[in-house]
Amino acid sequence: MRVLVSGGAGYIGSHTVLSLVASGHDVVVVDDFSNSKPTVMGRVESLSGTHVPVHAIDLTDAEKTERLFAHERFDAVVHFAGLKAVGESVAKPLAYYRNNLDSTLSLLEAMRRHDVPRLVFSSSATVYGEKAPVPYREDYDFLSSSSPYGQTKVMIERIMADAAAATDGLKVALLRYFNPVGAHPSGQIGEDPQGIPNNLMPFLAQVAVGKRDKLVVFGDDYPTADGTCERDYLHVEDLAAGHVAALQHLDAMAEPVRAFNLGTGTGTSVLQMLHAFERAVGRELPYEVGPRRAGDLAAFWADPTRAQTELGWRAEKTIDDMCADTWRWQSANPQGFPGA
Ligand code: UD1
Repeated sequence: MRVLVSGGAGYIGSHTVLSLVASGHDVVVVDDFSNSKPTVMGRVESLSGTHVPVHAIDLTDAEKTERLFAHERFDAVVHFAGLKAVGESVAKPLAYYRNNLDSTLSLLEAMRRHDVPRLVFSSSATVYGEKAPVPYREDYDFLSSSSPYGQTKVMIERIMADAAAATDGLKVALLRYFNPVGAHPSGQIGEDPQGIPNNLMPFLAQVAVGKRDKLVVFGDDYPTADGTCERDYLHVEDLAAGHVAALQHLDAMAEPVRAFNLGTGTGTSVLQMLHAFERAVGRELPYEVGPRRAGDLAAFWADPTRAQTELGWRAEKTIDDMCADTWRWQSANPQGFPGA
């Protein structure tokens, strides 16, 4: 298939581009580089051994989006592009709703006008909100999220479901990621957050490489085995493979839209993750326990049964693989991707 990957220069997008190319698909990337560097694409091309055309377009610009679809033919779209920082979304909700919803609407309108029949969407376990019982299952009906970022995922899932119901032939897979971490085993591409990382794994990697003094563990008085929060971490390579599996499953799907959890089904605590990272680095890392972070849930993980039975997909890499690959990437690229 000829696949348009929006946000293909980002962390998960770039790994998915490699998996798509390795599975024999032709990939075209659209990215506005607002949270990624163009130098990512050179690494993706050298790792894949293929030229990957890139369009530097902001998808909220409906005219430019339309022009892209008028000039190129796509069999499918994998939609990653979007703003994704939870804290920033609380401070700037309108920017998040404007960007994430407008870009999705431009894309869906262009897909409808040009009869593109397949869509895979980058959703998140955040759509299960604060009340869903764990493990999270896709048939839980009361989706809501505590942050504007998360609400954009809930709304986009709904918009896509309505569009699929109204468009003959359109099939949509909504992929609800748990906590993606790790990097390509080559150490050439990985997560490159701008500024202070919000998430655990890139923060740990920056402590290990000496860019940050110490990890602050956000609370150790949760009702979990060691008192720190538990999450379902999965390797970004497994996650990328999940996108390829979903894309290839769409035509066989009975319903126009279907959600799939992409997770391992196992929780790992913050302290367990710290110690796994210490094993990868080969020394102890400094940390202290601080107060809880507002909005954090004690523990959640996926029920990944649906993805296993329907997509034939299963997360295979271990926590130690995730840490070793993150460390290979971070130690080889202490400043992330080069700027130009
Ligand atoms: C967060 C978002 C989630 C989003 C996901 C994207 C929140 C509340 N949730 O998930 O909506 O989809 O990122 O990857 O922000 N931790 C520390 N110290 C740190 C950083 C994190 O102790 O410096 C702890 C957190 O308290 C949490 C765990 O590590 O228990 C994982 O945190 P993080 O990587 O930010 O992911 P989530 O909060 O699960």
